[in-house]
Amino acid sequence: MDESQVSAAELPLARFLARCHAEYSRDQSGEVAAYIPELALADPAHFGIAVTTVDGYVYEIGDSTVEFTIQSISKAFVFALALETVGAERVESIVGVEPSGDAFNSIRLGSDNRPFNPMVNAGAIACTGLICEREQDGAFDWLLQALSRFAGRRLEVDEPTFRSERESGDRNRAIAYLLRNHGVLQGDVDQVLDVYFRQCALRVSARDLSVMAATLAHKGRNPLTGEQVVSSYAVARTLSVMTSSGMYDSAGRWVYRVGIPAKSGVGGGIVASLPSQLGLGTYSPLIDDQGNSIRGLRTCEALSTHFGLHMLNRVGDVRTCIAASYDVGSVSSRRSRPPREQAILEAHHGEGAILELTGALSFGNIEYVSRRIRNLRDGLRYLILDFRRVPSVSEASLRLLADVLDDLAQAHVEVVFSGIPRGTPIEQSLSEWLTDRPAVRSIGLLDEAIEWAEDRIIHSETGDLELGTSTDLHEQELLRGLDDDELSALTALLVQREYRTGERLISAGETASSLMFVMSGIVSVRLQSGVRLATLSAGMAVGEMALLETARSADVWADTKVVCLELALDAFARFRAGHARAGEKIMANLARLLAKRLIVANNKIEVLASY
Ligand code: DON
Repeated sequence: MDESQVSAAELPLARFLARCHAEYSRDQSGEVAAYIPELALADPAHFGIAVTTVDGYVYEIGDSTVEFTIQSISKAFVFALALETVGAERVESIVGVEPSGDAFNSIRLGSDNRPFNPMVNAGAIACTGLICEREQDGAFDWLLQALSRFAGRRLEVDEPTFRSERESGDRNRAIAYLLRNHGVLQGDVDQVLDVYFRQCALRVSARDLSVMAATLAHKGRNPLTGEQVVSSYAVARTLSVMTSSGMYDSAGRWVYRVGIPAKSGVGGGIVASLPSQLGLGTYSPLIDDQGNSIRGLRTCEALSTHFGLHMLNRVGDVRTCIAASYDVGSVSSRRSRPPREQAILEAHHGEGAILELTGALSFGNIEYVSRRIRNLRDGLRYLILDFRRVPSVSEASLRLLADVLDDLAQAHVEVVFSGIPRGTPIEQSLSEWLTDRPAVRSIGLLDEAIEWAEDRIIHSETGDLELGTSTDLHEQELLRGLDDDELSALTALLVQREYRTGERLISAGETASSLMFVMSGIVSVRLQSGVRLATLSAGMAVGEMALLETARSADVWADTKVVCLELALDAFARFRAGHARAGEKIMANLARLLAKRLIVANNKIEVLASY
């Protein structure tokens, strides 16, 4: 069943969130914030929860689309944007990263006269000041657009709340003047505060917050829009300060009990972002005396405890990053090889190895892969690393991989990357990286890469490949064992056919009336989807299954100019009537060819199923 057909309420996480919602709705403790008069108008009964997974599935329960003002939650995202735009050095020159242990609106600065961290008002106002320095009069519009990209929709300012905070914001004004006195803030205090009050007055819902948190959890890429909003560098630093300072005075207890980077706002919202997994957004305006939403805190704690989400409680086995490991002897490409070439590949199977990688690759995985490669090294000449199941590669793992590749180059092992998924972030990171390493080839499909390695192995043994060369009927496997009289009787029935490159010899679905012996050129057997089943060359037969079953199951295309000899089925029936022994030999040859193909297919199943 497609996941869109499952109603969210039936999913286990939806059931759990519904239970949290029902239970914590009964908790009436806490107060609606009143120090900004407009906030006092919030409905204390409102309670919404939303979770967005990093693959973009949104769970929602209760008042998840009710809008409220983002308040301090904006601080986390503005910090990420400041890192991204003005750079870590400048940001760190004006704001620290230490938990203050003070309330969010404390007027105390650190001993170096910088705000303690970007999650308290002083640090947040300093970060907003950096954006103002850079964007001048366009600062708020710039921030609005950037914060909207985190949410995946255009956010708007709640004008009454903005005005209410501007009118009642003397404490923040005091902080801002103090910052300017110490050179942390430059320019016009009122302009910076206007932008800060507006950013705090942006209207969001619990659903929006969950998407914004999921964007952080997804290394800065919005899982609904696919947009890369900030770099993973900015995300990692933002999540760090959310972990140490996101929940103000209760930050220590938060890390200890919940262990998910989070940020709260006096408007009643909380965001929590668990890297690589999910973003949580909650809304309930009843807050405790530290400014954190009580029902939101309880939801986060329950979710973390029930599902074991503490960020330090990770499971994982680096070994799962190898989906399959084999050599060219146990899994061949779909190119059918003449017996001589087949024999070369069997004798030299250890020269070509394939590692099919899977999952997001980080340091631990590639460190494990590096050891596996070292164990393959004896006699290895061609190594294929397949990436079709790899969604991402961390920079650290690329550095490690670069060392592995340097060692392989020294040992004269040629490396091919195959299956890099097109149009994905990994394509971007790998292709930039590969530009600096011209020795590493990238080949689209794993099968093509295996064929390339086979060609190299055969070529280095024979000096050439037998591809496309003409051959006489004696060499046809299907006709093996026929004597000269039988062969010449059969030859009299054959009709020569020529095909241009790209022409179709056989169409799936048709009723077969003949089979063909390839005399020169290359043909491919393909499913209608385009998937290649086999590539055949001179000396092999195509459409030979027609001797057993007349419904054509696949297309056959000429990959080059092709010459074939066609044997009509009714002509073959007449031949069999007159040459019973030869007819039996041909059918026995066919049975042997099919048995060989079955053995190859079974080998592949065994190799792939053993992982
Ligand atoms: O600066 C202020 O006071 C508000 N605009 C934001 C405060 C806030 O949300 C504190 N968080 N719990």
